[in-house]
Amino acid sequence: MYRDQRRELLNDLSGTVLEIGPGSGPNFPYLPSGIRWIGLEPNPYLHERLRDAEYGSVLCGDAESIPLADGSVDAVVATIVLCSIDAQSRVLAEVIRVLRPGGRFAFLEHVGAERGTWSRWAQRAVTPFSRRFDGGCDATRDTGTSITNAGFARVDMTEFVVRGPLGVSIPHVLGRATA
Ligand SMILES: C[S@@+](CC[C@H](N)C(=O)[O-])C[C@H]1O[C@@H](n2cnc3c(N)ncnc32)[C@H](O)[C@@H]1O
Repeated sequence: MYRDQRRELLNDLSGTVLEIGPGSGPNFPYLPSGIRWIGLEPNPYLHERLRDAEYGSVLCGDAESIPLADGSVDAVVATIVLCSIDAQSRVLAEVIRVLRPGGRFAFLEHVGAERGTWSRWAQRAVTPFSRRFDGGCDATRDTGTSITNAGFARVDMTEFVVRGPLGVSIPHVLGRATA
């Protein structure tokens, strides 16, 4: 899923790239060669698959407390991760901390639909289940606003909509923020 968006987001990254919540590695086919990739993944059951891909090093931990030094990476990647994070502002502060000045945060996230719409109602209905059975995912989060307010020097964000079942529209944000 999100093939075009992943390609657009990741194709020109360079240097040391930290990916938070890489899951089983769906971004690997879209990352450019020559980067130094570090994955920070709290789910240890995914580590073997990530290591088998031989893409870089895998750390175990949460993005609320990134085990890397200040200004030590050129880019941070998060795709479909912030929906699962309650303390979004804390994670985004950590992202800014580990990025070098001018470094890039590349993000792709689904976000809450407009209040009062059928799509929003449907998102609210599924959230108790997705929080329990889909890694804590909350479909109603306003992640775009969290990124805008996080304190980046610049945020370039576009929105697109994925059509779900039963006429549900799922808004997404895609973009780059500069530390
Ligand atoms: C829906 S999956 C997305 C996987 C992949 N990034 C993608 O694009 O499909 C969410 C990932 O975020 C990870 N995750 C959840 N909470 C996290 C946290 N606090 N810090 C870092 N990663 C987290 C999960 O373990 C999971 O691998």
